[in-house]
Amino acid sequence: MSAGSTRDRYSTISGRGLDWDSVPMRLFQKAKRLGVWDPQALDFSADGADWTGFDGVEQDFLLRTLALFQAGEEGVTSDLLPLIMAVAGEGRIEEEIYLTSFLWEEAKHVEFFRRWLDQVAIARGDLGHYLTSSYRQLFLVELPSSLNALKSDQSVEAQIRASVTYNMIIEGVLAETGYHGFRQSLEANGKLPGLLSGIRLIARDESRHIRYGVFLLDRLINDSRDGWDVMIQRMNELLGLAMGVISEFWEHYDDEHAPFGQRMETYLEFAGTQFDKRMKVLERDRGKSIEEIATASLADLAEEEVAIGAAP
Ligand SMILES: [Fe+2]
Ligand SMILES: [Fe+2]
Repeated sequence: MSAGSTRDRYSTISGRGLDWDSVPMRLFQKAKRLGVWDPQALDFSADGADWTGFDGVEQDFLLRTLALFQAGEEGVTSDLLPLIMAVAGEGRIEEEIYLTSFLWEEAKHVEFFRRWLDQVAIARGDLGHYLTSSYRQLFLVELPSSLNALKSDQSVEAQIRASVTYNMIIEGVLAETGYHGFRQSLEANGKLPGLLSGIRLIARDESRHIRYGVFLLDRLINDSRDGWDVMIQRMNELLGLAMGVISEFWEHYDDEHAPFGQRMETYLEFAGTQFDKRMKVLERDRGKSIEEIATASLADLAEEEVAIGAAP
C-alpha cells in the first residue's frame, strides 16, 4: 500500500500474521522489557548537592553537554515521523510496530534531560548559545531536511539519506559517543547518580535504535541499484560535520585539564570504532537477499544480547 491510498486488506488477518522472528519484532519485545523506565521515577536528590559543589568551569562543561543532549533528543523526536510514515506506507507492519517504541523512547529522553535541567541545574534560560555552527547545520538543517524530504519523496534513495543522517550519524556517531563518554566520566568521578542512571537507560534504548537503523539501511541498500553509493555519498556529506560537533565542543576546554578528566581523543576514538563496526556489517550484507540480511541481523542481535547479559 502506498501512502495516501486506500487500504485493501489487513496484514495480520490475511494469513500472513506477524513475523515474530523478524528483527523489528525482536527489538519490539526488547523495548517492552527494557524501554519502559519512567524519567519521573529517577531519584535526583543526591545530584543537587553535587551540582552546587562544582566550580564554574565544571558547571559550564555539564550545561554545554546537556544542552547538546537535550537539543539532539528534541530533534530526533520531532523529526522521526516522516520515516515512520514512509515505512508504514509500505505496509511494513512489524517495523511500524517497533517504531512506535522508538519514538516513545525519544520523547522520554527529551523529558529526562528537561527534568534534570529544571530540577537540578535550574537552568531555565536560553541554552541555544551552546550550539556551535556544525551542530546547528547537522541538527537544525540536515536532520529535518533529510527527514522532511520523505513527505514528498519516499524513494528508497531518499530513505537511505534520511536513515544515514538519523541513525548512522546522529545516533550512531554522536549520541552513542556522547552518552558513552559522559557515562564513563560520571562513573569515574562518582558524581550525579541520578543523571548517570538516566544516561545508562538512554544508552540502552539508543543501542536498539541504532540496531534497527543498521537493519533498515541493510534492507534499503539491497533494494536499490545505487543504494550503496547513495549511502557513502550521504556519509561523506555529514562525517565532517559530526567531527566538527566534537571538536567545536572541545575548543572551550584545555584538553589536558578538562573538567572531570575528560579527553577529546576518547570521544573521537570511540566514534571511529563504532562507525567502523557498523560499516563492516553493511559491507558484509551488501548484495545479500532480504532473507539473508534478516538471518545475519538476528545472529548479531543474539550475540549482543549475550554480550550485555540481556538475553530473554
Ligand atoms: Fe534518544
Ligand atoms: Fe534514538
